[in-house]
Amino acid sequence: MQTLQALLTQISSTTTLEGLENLRLQVLGKKGLLTQEFSQLKSLEGQVKAQKAQELNQFKEAFTSTHALKKQELQNLALEAKLCAQKIDWSLAHTHLRASFGHPLSHTKDRIIEYFTQLGFKLHLGALIEDEFYNFDALNMPAYHPARDMQDTFYFQDRKLLRTHTSPTQIHALQHQEPPIKMISVGPTFRRDYDTTHTPMFHQVEGLVVDRARRVHFGHLKQVLEDFLHHFFGDVRVRWRSSFFPFTEPSAEADISCVFCEGRGCRVCAHTGWLEVLGSGCVNQRVFENVGVCGVSGYAFGLGIERLAMLTCEINDLRSFFETDLRLLEAF
Ligand code: DAH
Repeated sequence: MQTLQALLTQISSTTTLEGLENLRLQVLGKKGLLTQEFSQLKSLEGQVKAQKAQELNQFKEAFTSTHALKKQELQNLALEAKLCAQKIDWSLAHTHLRASFGHPLSHTKDRIIEYFTQLGFKLHLGALIEDEFYNFDALNMPAYHPARDMQDTFYFQDRKLLRTHTSPTQIHALQHQEPPIKMISVGPTFRRDYDTTHTPMFHQVEGLVVDRARRVHFGHLKQVLEDFLHHFFGDVRVRWRSSFFPFTEPSAEADISCVFCEGRGCRVCAHTGWLEVLGSGCVNQRVFENVGVCGVSGYAFGLGIERLAMLTCEINDLRSFFETDLRLLEAF
């Protein structure tokens, strides 16, 4: 016990962390003195054993707390010494700093928002969690509708879901605003999909224009979207194909001449010379009926932001947008 006490008093005069650790090992290490004393307890019995055990435990407590305090003190001193020794060399060149140019998706999104808001489209914020009414039913996709299968949905309880497209923002706009309406909405959308051309989260732009009946028609839609595509992609040809969406009638998709091969045909455009870039159409009267709006007409459109960014940045794996690889960000 005397030797143990001597080791305890040595703590206060220790000046290095190594020395302190050495003391700890001498006392509490596998072959340390205290460890040995504890193991000798089994040879004692009754009152003597209990008293010795108490004595050892009290010593252990005193040793560990004194040791911890000293350790903290020595660590603080070491840190202070280190900080004092460090000097900042203000003359160093800062070539290692990297300038940030923003993510290609944000850049694409900003360009789209800027273009449409300048044309008088109001930017609407949408909710990421919707229910089946806004995401499907009101958009003329009732429960049995096959279009629901195409959009593998993340469901919560009580018919709540992560929106599979930005089109529900059309329904909110129609419910909350008297026509004329001229809005776009931009944001994340979610589907259960993952491969080189699909990620579970991706971004869409939704556009909606509604006014008194026959004031807006397909001709407006074509003009607005062709102008946008020329602004965005420069000198490309635009081709319209009839299509189907439950919430528009008639519906059309727009293709642009391939920006990689200028329409001659390449791997990216599957040798067709054309790239599909957007879906659109005149708002189906059923949609207006579903929200109780009458005597109006309108058009709507939807764009995929990743798709447009892939085409302008020449990226061919969609997943690379979400991998936070600085080399990709620096390339733009
Ligand atoms: N919501 C459609 C989708 O996710 C895209 C779309 C197509 C939106 C046509 C529209 C539209 O507003 O008119 O695939």
